[in-house]
Amino acid sequence: MPYGVKLKGLNGNDMKEFAFLPKTRDAVIAGAQAKDVDSVFAINENAKALHPDFQELTVREIIEHTDAKTFILGNEDGSPVAYFKAGQYLSLQFVIDNSILTRPYSISSSPQWCAMGKYAVTIRKNPGGFAADKILDTLRVGDKVTASAPEGSFFYDKIRDGSHVIAVAGGSGITPFLSMAYAIRDDIEDFDLTILYGSAKYNNILFKDELKSITQDCARVKVVHVLSDDSREDCESGFITADLIKKYIPADGSYSIFMCGPDAMYKFVQGEIEKLGVEKKFVRRELQSVTKNVSALPGYPAGCADSVFNVKLVRGEEIYEFSAKADEPVLVAIERAGISAPSRCRCGECGWCRSKLLKGEVFIPEETDGRRWADKEYGYIHPCASFPVSDIEIEVPGSYI
Ligand code: FES
Repeated sequence: MPYGVKLKGLNGNDMKEFAFLPKTRDAVIAGAQAKDVDSVFAINENAKALHPDFQELTVREIIEHTDAKTFILGNEDGSPVAYFKAGQYLSLQFVIDNSILTRPYSISSSPQWCAMGKYAVTIRKNPGGFAADKILDTLRVGDKVTASAPEGSFFYDKIRDGSHVIAVAGGSGITPFLSMAYAIRDDIEDFDLTILYGSAKYNNILFKDELKSITQDCARVKVVHVLSDDSREDCESGFITADLIKKYIPADGSYSIFMCGPDAMYKFVQGEIEKLGVEKKFVRRELQSVTKNVSALPGYPAGCADSVFNVKLVRGEEIYEFSAKADEPVLVAIERAGISAPSRCRCGECGWCRSKLLKGEVFIPEETDGRRWADKEYGYIHPCASFPVSDIEIEVPGSYI
């Protein structure tokens, strides 16, 4: 064997065939007919259908809830939309009052709906917030919405997770779990699901009837309402504590904990989960929002909090200049200026908005700094999780969502 290399499992004949391979291949190429190669490959078409760059959807129906709306988005002709795993989200882009708003929303429908060409997303009122209320007030049936392909890794994985998922939900954080519950009922997913759903009052509960109907149809899904400001015999009272979670842990001890809800809930429940001693890999949380009070974080430079800085943005041949508030992520300033920039998770995690910081400085909270080591070294930032602390110049990628 040349150079003393030994290949396991190969004998002399294999090596001879290997040596003749180029000649055989050349002969096949020489003997081939001169005709065009098919321009459409089924595998490429399937990949495109599963992972489109973006989807142009239409608002087909709006369902009103007490303080939220569910938007049924889909293809007008009913052709299938990109498939998703229950728990994933869509990044939706709206143009409202000359501002471009891109926000991630968990899909609340069953994956089965994809074949019917539609998804459901639910948006809850967020008084004082920039996007949710504008979208709720503005979006009408028939309007067009640009959506990403389904994104995110907040879904059940048989190899990684226990056979039972204990879902801790707060407020509109119920939506990915509603989708999981539908997927189990529809035999698309194969795990047991117990949802501990925290709400202030019984009347605040979102999707109460839908959840009840799923549990009646499917014994693998259980829903426990936990009310902080109300008490009823058929509900738990107080907060989702370690003791409460313990009550619903399956006897075989094979479980994962998934969380989705407001930041205050994460902070509280995280502490309770630590008391249970659950291994980290069995605890999953949906996207967290970027901090609202950045100047209170350790390491934030003194004297910046109320400042407004200049931003120079370079995108290919285009150059834009606008201002950015110190307490808002750079991405929000870009959108306020009416410029379309890539964004999906909006919490520093996915890297989709990755941009080069050419000049100036930004503050990046540690808890939402999802950059790779090399990106930190070479001056890349995620504008969705970076706050300006001086005038800055950045170079952003193309204008897709
Ligand atoms: S949008 Fe995901 S990291 Fe910025």
